[in-house]
Amino acid sequence: MMINYNHTVFAFLLLSLGIFKLGSCSANNVTVKCIKSEREALVKFKEGVFDIPGKLSSWVGEECCQWKGVECDNDLGHVTKLNLSNPAGRPRHFDYYEIYPYVTSRNRASAWDRCYAKSREYQSANNYCTGLCNGNSAYARSCVKSARLLGDVNSSFSGDVNASLSGEITRYLGNLSSLTHLDLGGNYNLSTKNLDWVSSLSSLEYLYMGGVKINPTKADWLHAINMLPSLQELSLYSCELKHLPSSLTFLNLTSLRVLDLSYNPFNTSIDLPYNPFNTSIPQWLFNLTSLKNLDLTFSNQRGKILDSFGRLGGLKYLYLGGNHFYGSIPASIGNLSSLKELDLSYNEMNGTIPESFGQLSTLVKLYLLENSWEGVITEAQLMNLTSLEEFVLTTNNKSQPLVFNVKVDWRPPFKLKILHLESCLIGPKFPKWLQVQSELTYVILKSVEINGTIPEEWFSLISFNLTHLDLSNNQINGSLPHQLVFPNVTKLFLQSNLFSGPIPSNISDLMPNLQYLDLSKNHFYGEIPLSISKIKQLKILVLRRNNLSGELPHHWNESQMGLRVVDISYNNICGKIPSSMGFLGNLSILVLSNNNLSGEIPSSLQNCSIVSMDFGGNRLSGNLPSWIESNIFMLRLRSNLFSGIIPRKWCNHYKLHILDLAQNNLSGGIPDCFNNFISMVDHNTSWYEPIENYTEKANIVTKGREYEYDRTLQLVTCIDLSGNSLTGGIPIQITSLTRLGTLNLSMNHLNGSIPENIGNMRWLETLDLSNNRLFGPIPGSLSSLTSLVHLNLSFNNLTGRIPSGSQLQTLIDATIYEGNPLLCGSPLPTKCLGDETSDGPSITGVDDYERIWFYASIGLGFVVGFWSVCGTLLLKKSWRHCYFCFCDDIKDRIALLIALRVVHLKRKFGLEKN
Ligand SMILES: *[C@@H]1O[C@H](CO)[C@@H](O)[C@H](O)[C@H]1NC(C)=O
Ligand SMILES: *[C@@H]1O[C@H](CO)[C@@H](O)[C@H](O)[C@H]1NC(C)=O
Ligand SMILES: *[C@@H]1O[C@H](CO)[C@@H](O)[C@H](O)[C@H]1NC(C)=O
Ligand SMILES: *[C@@H]1O[C@H](CO)[C@@H](O)[C@H](O)[C@H]1NC(C)=O
Ligand SMILES: *[C@@H]1O[C@H](CO)[C@@H](O)[C@H](O)[C@H]1NC(C)=O
Ligand SMILES: *[C@@H]1O[C@H](CO)[C@@H](O)[C@H](O)[C@H]1NC(C)=O
Ligand SMILES: *[C@@H]1O[C@H](CO)[C@@H](O)[C@H](O)[C@H]1NC(C)=O
Repeated sequence: MMINYNHTVFAFLLLSLGIFKLGSCSANNVTVKCIKSEREALVKFKEGVFDIPGKLSSWVGEECCQWKGVECDNDLGHVTKLNLSNPAGRPRHFDYYEIYPYVTSRNRASAWDRCYAKSREYQSANNYCTGLCNGNSAYARSCVKSARLLGDVNSSFSGDVNASLSGEITRYLGNLSSLTHLDLGGNYNLSTKNLDWVSSLSSLEYLYMGGVKINPTKADWLHAINMLPSLQELSLYSCELKHLPSSLTFLNLTSLRVLDLSYNPFNTSIDLPYNPFNTSIPQWLFNLTSLKNLDLTFSNQRGKILDSFGRLGGLKYLYLGGNHFYGSIPASIGNLSSLKELDLSYNEMNGTIPESFGQLSTLVKLYLLENSWEGVITEAQLMNLTSLEEFVLTTNNKSQPLVFNVKVDWRPPFKLKILHLESCLIGPKFPKWLQVQSELTYVILKSVEINGTIPEEWFSLISFNLTHLDLSNNQINGSLPHQLVFPNVTKLFLQSNLFSGPIPSNISDLMPNLQYLDLSKNHFYGEIPLSISKIKQLKILVLRRNNLSGELPHHWNESQMGLRVVDISYNNICGKIPSSMGFLGNLSILVLSNNNLSGEIPSSLQNCSIVSMDFGGNRLSGNLPSWIESNIFMLRLRSNLFSGIIPRKWCNHYKLHILDLAQNNLSGGIPDCFNNFISMVDHNTSWYEPIENYTEKANIVTKGREYEYDRTLQLVTCIDLSGNSLTGGIPIQITSLTRLGTLNLSMNHLNGSIPENIGNMRWLETLDLSNNRLFGPIPGSLSSLTSLVHLNLSFNNLTGRIPSGSQLQTLIDATIYEGNPLLCGSPLPTKCLGDETSDGPSITGVDDYERIWFYASIGLGFVVGFWSVCGTLLLKKSWRHCYFCFCDDIKDRIALLIALRVVHLKRKFGLEKN
């Protein structure tokens, strides 16, 4: 008992000491009473916020110095520190590879435009469209993520929401007159009407309010801050600040070491004649000569990067990414002799990198992603970069790309760990200065015009620590090393080169941790090594467009549960599809098109999670697989030997948007339930889930041509049943597919008439019903298909007058209607009865429906015809945005803007509704 008692006392003493120590409120064991007025200020603060994360649950009782997040002065009991931050909400630097995994040199508009500014302008909504664009575009995903950083807490990256306080900060916090540290950072749901209360915190040294919404109509936030002469660190990222004063009469902030104004939509403009500096960075900023860390990432800054930066000689961290800077890096950069990290990514820099750059001997991280760099990089710019570890430079200047021109034998003073050079010129030979980089772990040398082989010595030098290797889009030849082990490589991208030889048969021993393998568009030959089915972590296997032969590996097994994509299309693979592929339970995209595969589709594949199946261009036979799950969105089996009927069970494929069964031996009728393909009807959902590091490709015949779609594939809607022996009529249900873009039923034995309300299919661009046995008149509603650019009704038994008006005015090729002896009217030479005297298109005798359409849409028809392909859907309000991202390349930017609306909407309907 005695011992126990002693223990208890001892424990009590320890505990008390612990508490006092934790609270830091006490010089000895005597508890400091917290000052009443300060306690009241804290209570008022608490009353003003919603404490969803429960951060303030300990804020009860008198002793405020022991409340969580509160620290007091030892002697006087004043509150000196208040820390209620939400660390998870802080933006991180250099996470571009996470945020922008696929952004390539397509888009010159700065990331700001793409990811922020417009998001608030776009108001009108179509969830389905935005969902699609969002899913479709890698940019969009990146935007969503950026949006998180930009304060959109309800975006899909909402991990932080629960940890954020919400509500309004009361001005009473200004009563904590001895406060030196105030950290409310990362609370994206907090707001404050102004910062006036901050100006009375005259002892403040550290102020972190990132994420807190500061009333953007207030222009005087800086004046409040300027009253804090002791301020050392100021962090106001993502505060929705709009006004950045360009001038100040006097600057108090002489001790400021850290200034973070990133992710704010400053509305900056440069009034050229009156702005001698040609930049929106305010001049007072260059008086902050104590600065060590300056962060203006995504803050809408414009103009040139000034020589004045040279005055900030103490800078260690300079982040200027995601703005509109152009021109060259100023020579004065060489003055920043302590610089460790420099980020100029996502700007419009179209000049050169000065020689003085070579003086930055302390530089560790250099990020120059996505600009239009030009000029030449020689040893001079790299000579003294002795500390450099991460070197990232990509350019989108196609006309005069940046050239690396260093002496052949130059040995750099740095040992890089991360190297990403893209779209600049470092070839044609694999440079020697790279060959001595032995500590590389992450290498992207993409589109850098390397011609020739990769020295095997370099591979062996880096093989051990390498995790990521991307040499895509060069002219690299030679074969893959067959002995070298790359134990840590997870991503290997060698697509679009001239690699040849076999894929090493022991690849599972050489690269046991591979997750992503893309060898497409090379000259690899030989068999696909069996051992590929032993790489346990494999997620993506893309061997498209090589000369591989033999059969598919047979020994797939359950250990490869991570495999989601297998694309072996455009090779010479023969034999059957192995039924062991059924063990790949998570396989969702299986592309085996354009090989010599034969036999039936193994029913074991129903154990996979296939959402996209492309077996086109083989010699597969048997019945169509009726077991295909309802969540498939692409089913492409064209150009095979399939026979039998189209299974009625497929009617439940509600996600289906590409059904291509053309060129087979199918018979029977077209099921009368295609109206169940609700992905092909205007609908408000997108089911597409993008897969990291993979963009699905497929060839679709549309508008009379075959196109290879990639990033926009999810937006293509197509039913192609041509070249079979289908009989019966065209089921009227098909006309409810208002979002269908391509309908090709040609070269079958279909009879009956064209459904009267075919005009409902507003999205239809391609309609081919040729070479059937259709009879009756061409429905007048056809003229309301304002998107139609490709029409073929030839070789049927259609009769009567060809309807006119609208889009049909532009489809004046007589071959559209040829082979229908009983058709008459323009554009056929055969005149209809009663038209003999008229030359041009006539509207007399046209029924009412047609007449209305003729008048109403002749203008539209002209415009539509003029815009032809991409422009057609401009006229369809709800779909035009989607369609923009449908038109590859050109429309990236707009796709993004749409994606931003998602963000906007989420914000609108999410936490901000209160
Ligand atoms: C507090 O400290 C004093 C000496 O400074 C000591 O005499 C007293 O016992 C302590 N009280 C407690 C509760 O520990
Ligand atoms: C500078 O700080 C002092 C003391 O805090 C204050 O009185 C003065 O108004 C400040 N100057 C400006 C220009 O804000
Ligand atoms: C900045 O410094 C210059 C001199 O170096 C001085 O003339 C100017 O007034 C200062 N500006 C501010 C806002 O303090
Ligand atoms: C760089 O861009 C700016 C702004 O777009 C333009 O005025 C300037 O002429 C460009 N310079 C070069 C060298 O292309
Ligand atoms: C590199 O450093 C050396 C020695 O410190 C110096 O002499 C030389 O001028 C520097 N080169 C450049 C380009 O700054
Ligand atoms: C791999 O990395 C480790 C730790 O970074 C390093 O010690 C080792 O030397 C590296 N190995 C090679 C072969 O570069
Ligand atoms: C690559 O190098 C070979 C041989 O040196 C040359 O014939 C070929 O034209 C080069 N190709 C390119 C695209 O530079």
